[in-house]
Amino acid sequence: MASAFPSLLFCLVLLASPYLGCSYHTSYYTHGGKHYALRSLDLRSLRGEDNHWAPAPAPGPSAPGGAWVSIPVRGDPMESLPGAFEYHVVVGFGTPVQELTVGFDTRTTGATLLKCTPCAATEPCDQAFEPSASSSLAQIPCGSPDCPFRGCSGPSCTLSISMNNTLLGNATFVTDKLTLTSWATVENFRFACMEAGFRPRDDSTGILDLSRNSHSLASRVPSSPDTVAFSYCLPSSAGTVGSLSLGAPKPDLSGHKVSYTPLRSNPGNGNLYVVELVGVGLGGHDLSVPPTAFAGDTIVDLHTTFTYLRPEVYSVLRDNFRQWMTEYKPAPPLGVLDTCYNFTGRNFFAVPGVTLKFNGAADVDLSMNGMMYFPDPGNHFSIACLAFAAAPTTNAREAAVIGNRAQSSMEVVYDVRGGKIGFVPYRC
Ligand SMILES: *[C@@H]1O[C@H](CO)[C@@H](O)[C@H](O)[C@H]1NC(C)=O
Ligand SMILES: *[C@@H]1O[C@H](CO)[C@@H](O)[C@H](O)[C@H]1NC(C)=O
Ligand SMILES: *[C@@H]1O[C@H](CO)[C@@H](O)[C@H](O)[C@H]1NC(C)=O
Repeated sequence: MASAFPSLLFCLVLLASPYLGCSYHTSYYTHGGKHYALRSLDLRSLRGEDNHWAPAPAPGPSAPGGAWVSIPVRGDPMESLPGAFEYHVVVGFGTPVQELTVGFDTRTTGATLLKCTPCAATEPCDQAFEPSASSSLAQIPCGSPDCPFRGCSGPSCTLSISMNNTLLGNATFVTDKLTLTSWATVENFRFACMEAGFRPRDDSTGILDLSRNSHSLASRVPSSPDTVAFSYCLPSSAGTVGSLSLGAPKPDLSGHKVSYTPLRSNPGNGNLYVVELVGVGLGGHDLSVPPTAFAGDTIVDLHTTFTYLRPEVYSVLRDNFRQWMTEYKPAPPLGVLDTCYNFTGRNFFAVPGVTLKFNGAADVDLSMNGMMYFPDPGNHFSIACLAFAAAPTTNAREAAVIGNRAQSSMEVVYDVRGGKIGFVPYRC
């Protein structure tokens, strides 16, 4: 008993120090198709302690020739879902530059949207873009091929937007200079200025379009056979920074193993990046699911947290996962997640790893954080749920939606010119 006392005292002394502490440290490893989590009492620098198994990527330097850019991505916690994030970047619009915090998305209406002045009297207006303050802003004439509104009239590409018989305000397509870094700008970048009633669902100023639309930022990146249009590393915790890179060299050219899957043509919605999931593995074994269950579109989504599979695929994954996990104490469902465990009081647990198998022999192994949801992100030895759910059956075309959680800790590479999306596990 006596021997425990000095070390406890040592901990208490250290806890009073701002930089060192005595804490439980969680380490992870992956072996034989399983992810392991181990908890041990240790001394380590306390500030910024984070249970992550890869360092945050440094915002990339420019390649020789200086042709590509990488900007930091911030993960802002979602109030409604602890441990989940909305992803934001800071970019500049107009001349002089107005710095604005915006989201970015590959699944958009095919336009960058910005909240602009004038704002509605009842809305906060400090985060809005001020078109009248920019000397480089240009109107797009109604009837121009760059104006997507049919039936507008007058000198500008403007449409009044009403909802439920209430006029929300005007949406106007304009072009202006987009500044990504002090040395990387895009001239005449098209976006829609939304005035008055428009309010992004998070507290950002709008959304940067990375879709396949010809006006998207992805389409404005100079294309070459050795580079990709864009790629991102999503931050996996509030303390880390991710990156959004544009025009970066292909990671395979620097020796990284990339799992590439071809982009499917999508006559239904040309703005969408569609791939094909062909199988799911668990603990290193393929799950037995008829291939027809995967027929349809798979969307890699940035604004969906969890991964949604057709009910007949999800049920096979869930049932097999539960069979692997019989030694652990189940916990009640959490929202859409119905396969949860209570690891409280344990010092060790193991889960079978999930592999997403895409067309083209592109197997993507998810990390522990990618496949499990921890509602208390600071303590993995509490509740944990399988971060997958059955998709609502309303969209018959859609076979799967790969959420942002599954993409954490891997770089996702959009080689639009090469017609493929690549995944680089553990690169972030
Ligand atoms: C639309 O207006 C009707 C009648 O004014 C109202 O009952 C309804 O709640 C409104 N719907 C929305 C979504 O605001
Ligand atoms: C909105 O657009 C309409 C039609 O183009 C125009 O008459 C009106 O003045 C605009 N409203 C504002 C606030 O600019
Ligand atoms: C998890 O287990 C602990 C200890 O057995 C218990 O105190 C706690 O209430 C459980 N949590 C849930 C959500 O079931």
